[in-house]
Amino acid sequence: MSLLDHLDQRTHLDGDAQQRQQYVTTMFEEIAPRYDSFTRWFSYGMDAGWKRELVAAVVRQAPPGTRNVRDLACGTGDLARSMADALPEVAVEGIDVAAGMIARAGPHPRVSYRVGDATRLPDADGSVDVVSIGYGLRNFPDHRASLAEVARVLRPGGLIAILEFTRPRWVVWRWFLLGYLWTAGMLFGWLWHRHGPVYGYIAHSIARFVTRRQLVADCAAAGLTTIHEGHALGGGMCILVARKG
Ligand SMILES: C[S@@+](CC[C@H](N)C(=O)[O-])C[C@H]1O[C@@H](n2cnc3c(N)ncnc32)[C@H](O)[C@@H]1O
Repeated sequence: MSLLDHLDQRTHLDGDAQQRQQYVTTMFEEIAPRYDSFTRWFSYGMDAGWKRELVAAVVRQAPPGTRNVRDLACGTGDLARSMADALPEVAVEGIDVAAGMIARAGPHPRVSYRVGDATRLPDADGSVDVVSIGYGLRNFPDHRASLAEVARVLRPGGLIAILEFTRPRWVVWRWFLLGYLWTAGMLFGWLWHRHGPVYGYIAHSIARFVTRRQLVADCAAAGLTTIHEGHALGGGMCILVARKG
């Protein structure tokens, strides 16, 4: 029996911020050994291309003198390492709440990793050049509070780079995409963990999340102006870079 058997998805995801975070943390601790394979298979390899687009947009727009990057919800660190490869002068810190994910994070000479809560950063106001978040915002208890926290630590002109599933606006497509993700997620979850909802969670969390248009508006409300907006999966995936100030 795994820890997942003690987690009831609806109770936890509809609970308060602490319950939602507890659900998410436990889930990622449990799936950590399979996370990289799952992401590759489940996205049919598209994940790598989306991350390339995100990193390329950051490279084009990074403020002069960029030295530090925080990769929030870094997981096993592939986005953190891509950032370091693309920006040769920078030091990247990857932060993730799940120790099991950090334990599997691949090494890089300019990337350090830390287990911690990315929704409360220890950085001083205006001290960070770039913040990246790959599939993290949707998993945080309150994405708007997290955007405000990122805006606090970014220096004026600093960038936030977001890769995230978003809720498609077109109802028929939304129904189809979420139905597919739910079914495929339940199947993968059962085959790999004997617990379907562990990946069925993806569809559930997208259904609760915002559309791309709303995410751009939420960034704007936090003082982050969108300067690159890419998308895929008919509005189900967004690649967004926004600048502070
Ligand atoms: C879907 S994974 C994304 C991993 C990686 N960024 C990627 O692109 O593949 C989401 C990650 O968010 C992390 N996470 C969830 N809540 C967090 C929090 N409050 N602080 C830091 N990490 C968090 C999870 O532990 C998990 O590793």
